[in-house]
Amino acid sequence: MNDKIELLHATDGDEIPSNTSNNPTFASILERRMSRRDVMRGGIAAAVAGVFAGAGAGALAAPGFLPPQAQARAPFGLKGELGFEPVPVSTADTTVVPAGYSAKPFLPWGTPICGDYPAYLDGGLNTGADQECQIGMNHDGIHFFPMAEGDEANRHGIICMNHEYIDQPKLHPNGATIVGGARVIEDEVRKEVAAHGVSVVEVREVAHGEWEVVKGKYNRRITAGTPMKISGPVRGSDLVKTKYSPDGTMTRGTINNCAHGYTPWGTYLTCEENWAGYFANRTGRPREHARYGVATGNSRYRWDTVTHIDEYARFDASVKGASATEDYRNEPNGQGWIVEIDPFDPSSTPVKRTAMGRFAHEGVVFAPVQNGQPLTFYSGDDARNEYIYKFVTEARYQPGRTRGDILDKGTLYVAVFNDDGSGEWRALDIKDKAFRDAAAAAGVEFKDQADVLVNTRLAADVVGATKMDRPEWGAVHPQTNEVYFALTNNSTRGGESNPVDAANPRAASAFGHIIRWREQGNRPWALRFDWDIFVLAGPVEDSRKLDGTPLDETNIFASPDGIWIDYNGVLWIQTDMGGSQQRAEQDRFGNNQMLAANPYTGEIRRFFVGPLGQEVTGCITTPNNRTMFINIQHPGESGEAFPQVASNWPDGGNARARSATVIITKDDGGVIGS
Ligand code: FEO
Ligand code: CA
Ligand code: CA
Repeated sequence: MNDKIELLHATDGDEIPSNTSNNPTFASILERRMSRRDVMRGGIAAAVAGVFAGAGAGALAAPGFLPPQAQARAPFGLKGELGFEPVPVSTADTTVVPAGYSAKPFLPWGTPICGDYPAYLDGGLNTGADQECQIGMNHDGIHFFPMAEGDEANRHGIICMNHEYIDQPKLHPNGATIVGGARVIEDEVRKEVAAHGVSVVEVREVAHGEWEVVKGKYNRRITAGTPMKISGPVRGSDLVKTKYSPDGTMTRGTINNCAHGYTPWGTYLTCEENWAGYFANRTGRPREHARYGVATGNSRYRWDTVTHIDEYARFDASVKGASATEDYRNEPNGQGWIVEIDPFDPSSTPVKRTAMGRFAHEGVVFAPVQNGQPLTFYSGDDARNEYIYKFVTEARYQPGRTRGDILDKGTLYVAVFNDDGSGEWRALDIKDKAFRDAAAAAGVEFKDQADVLVNTRLAADVVGATKMDRPEWGAVHPQTNEVYFALTNNSTRGGESNPVDAANPRAASAFGHIIRWREQGNRPWALRFDWDIFVLAGPVEDSRKLDGTPLDETNIFASPDGIWIDYNGVLWIQTDMGGSQQRAEQDRFGNNQMLAANPYTGEIRRFFVGPLGQEVTGCITTPNNRTMFINIQHPGESGEAFPQVASNWPDGGNARARSATVIITKDDGGVIGS
């Protein structure tokens, strides 16, 4: 999410966050064990010191699990060691990598991947039909699924990537055409719908650091209009019955796909983040719209104003008919989910896994699997003062047999971070007595579990979840099971209903931090955990690393967003300073960047800086950790109004900037980060 989105919602008069609940931070209803002053002085670090004391090298001997694609040997051990020379901040319109590394753009927006492979045309000249066969806009979460065995697994695979939103000035020749408040060129809307969603594309390496699209059967575009199944407890609920799906089993499209996840059985998970503003409801919003910020005026791109085409008119969620099956009042309830896509079955229909909850999902990440035990998935709700969740499957994992339907039954929990460094998971389950009691005490009624899930945020409110500083990506250490979450920033922290607390320790947090925890007994499905803060991001005078020292010129950063722990245990941190922060802080922080961290020592080094006006997001390597794919999103965004962030990357000259993947390799073929 960028500041443009925040502005959009601000002008709706119903900005995200929509958390106006009276749910105080849990900290404020506990007897505080520490004063705020202690927190600010680092007292919390002292209080929880020792929680992770066992996480030194010795902990690496613990039995662990490597994701399927990491079956290739871990080259230098799971120690998170860094070997490269850090790069300085940069305000150049190019990519910067350490000495001995190379970066090459790949799969920019508009790259033809299927159908009749229409060539990309600069100037926004491609049609909607073209876009349906091309890589979408604003790349975000990305995963690489190897297609071969052995070393070939590092050279041939399927890339799945998200396309979060669109930049209309770059998508069309002259931006969106709006007359009398309405969209008047249908093909513009067709192109916008098609530029969203997910790209699935087979790729292979043709030379060191050079990859190409394979024109194979797996390539496809999934868009904001693709039919999708509704699965899990919400399937068939009255809350998802629409004119399109009177029995509430189907919906169309996936919207604002930010980060992603994948499953141990080799499928892709795409996460719906800031979908709410794409809809408008002008006849009074029910709680399942209001709590998420569905617009009451104009929808984000005004797709709903194309009233004679049902596929676009459905973005108007106002009550129009006599019943829910005669209009699209429930259309927004089909968004806000985690969607499973099988990249290896191009005819498969994407599935919305509703048991995992409905909110502004940033991403999803699973804890290392243990055969015969439940699976655990973590997901953050990225809006100011929203929550961190986990989902634990009811069934136990059985390698080779477990498939996506395991995600349809389980328990959704929300996190409470206590000021003393402990934490707990509270169930959002109508079968759970504590949950029912909490709902009753709050005067909130839920009809059934479908109602709980469609109203996940409200359910989390009533159990007293801890309001967080915009939870972004999570990452789980592949061997120690420790969980890391990026909390990007929170301009409203310190307000009456969301005071500073130990887990969110800075008022009006502009720079963000990374929190981490270890589940009790190192069991991902446990109900209690211990947490600490891995790093407080920011300038030298307002930052703190694990060892208590501040960041310096080799690693200062702000607004962490994407994080991932690679197969060697290196924690990668990507930044998303919004446009206003980028412009205001350009001298100090440069362009958005990516850093590498050692989870054990807390050492952090700047590894990469992107071009102007972009954010760095999405990170994955081949199983051998020797080819890295990251994404550059919205280069040059708002450069029309603010020339200091204008970009022509990656094509150069006067070309329009394009989001693109970047392939990073070490020139000697070595491990990335070494
Ligand atoms: Fe789409 Fe939370 O970043
Ligand atoms: Ca962000
Ligand atoms: Ca993000």
